[in-house]
Amino acid sequence: MFSKSANYYDDIYASIDKDYSVETKKLQKFIQKHKKSGGHKLLDVACGTGTHANLLNQHYHVEGIDLDSKMLSVARKKYPGIKFHHGDMLDFTLNHKFDVITCLFSSIGYVRTKSNLAKAIRNMAGHLLPGGVLLVEPWFSSDQWNVGHIHMTVVNRDDLKIARMSRSSRRGNISMIEFQYLIGTSKKIEYTTETHKLGLFSHKDYLDAFETAGLKTTHDAKGLDGRGLYIGTKSVE
Ligand SMILES: C[S@@+](CC[C@H](N)C(=O)[O-])C[C@H]1O[C@@H](n2cnc3c(N)ncnc32)[C@H](O)[C@@H]1O
Repeated sequence: MFSKSANYYDDIYASIDKDYSVETKKLQKFIQKHKKSGGHKLLDVACGTGTHANLLNQHYHVEGIDLDSKMLSVARKKYPGIKFHHGDMLDFTLNHKFDVITCLFSSIGYVRTKSNLAKAIRNMAGHLLPGGVLLVEPWFSSDQWNVGHIHMTVVNRDDLKIARMSRSSRRGNISMIEFQYLIGTSKKIEYTTETHKLGLFSHKDYLDAFETAGLKTTHDAKGLDGRGLYIGTKSVE
């Protein structure tokens, strides 16, 4: 996934002004509205380089989990005070439960299939305390996905130059993005590529997955950054 670009992930998203701080403030409002449990334990699933986890740590006792060890190394280096686990959202098992579980920036799409979507949501819901809340920022749906879209992101600092070009394609209900990177530092200029494959799920697929996992579910069309947000609360009993 991000194993070839993990060290530059933060630089790339800073260059397009992804505002983790504003997103976290919005997230905090959704959590306050929907959380019915009394505690403050939060797990950020697919936490990446840990930026949301660190901001959320001002309000909660936060842990993170991610499948990509390179992303986790960046997160651990940046935030040594936060516990980051290595695990797959499909089947991770932690020996404790949480008041809040988040899965942000469309990371859920990486599970690719509808049966995996149900499995991941069920696994996350299983780690919620009674009254706890699960918040998932979805990936694009089938009708929102444009094939042949080309895009370029540029980091243009004195000490770092990156040109990341991407092209979208599709195979059935799997969206694909081919990334090609040119990364220049004072030591060398590197070229590398990554192909990302994410499932195109419908609104109904998300709702079914949440409801089958036993969560009382609502959807906010805007969410944190226009991608929408699914919010499921576990019953208090
Ligand atoms: C777009 S990044 C988002 C990272 C972070 N949440 C953020 O907002 O910057 C997607 C993340 O999902 C992680 N990921 C993909 N599939 C996963 C899985 N099955 N279980 C856990 N993490 C996964 C990737 O390693 C990557 O860190």
